[in-house]
Amino acid sequence: MQVLVWEDRFSVGIRQFDQHHKILFEMINSLIFAQEDNSDPDVIKNTMEQLRSYTLFHFVAEEAMMKHFGFEGLDEHISEHEVLLSHVIEYQERIAKNDGVTIDEVLNFLAGWLLDHTLGMDQLYGPFLQHRID
Ligand SMILES: [Fe+2]
Repeated sequence: MQVLVWEDRFSVGIRQFDQHHKILFEMINSLIFAQEDNSDPDVIKNTMEQLRSYTLFHFVAEEAMMKHFGFEGLDEHISEHEVLLSHVIEYQERIAKNDGVTIDEVLNFLAGWLLDHTLGMDQLYGPFLQHRID
């Protein structure tokens, strides 16, 4: 699996959230490296736990700012976050239990949603919030 490389087109124009997204990229890359290096399963478990809590932290931060500035796409955005978070939690729990889920399946899902969501829905709040923060 290819590592995720940050590109300018991923930027939502808000430094704080770009930074969060970059950290999420790096966490997924850590999982890719751990898998390639055949790391101890505990390394993968710990990274998944970190990813789960960081995802929650990041979603709460985005939602709070959208709410604060009255972004009209908030409800739709929250719904997508809920679906994504439930998948992240499900995969984290399955990895913790060693239920046979492959790391490739997890990585495909994680890399897919992060790119789709960052390039898709997150781009909608970018222009709206950008000039309210400045
Ligand atoms: Fe988002």
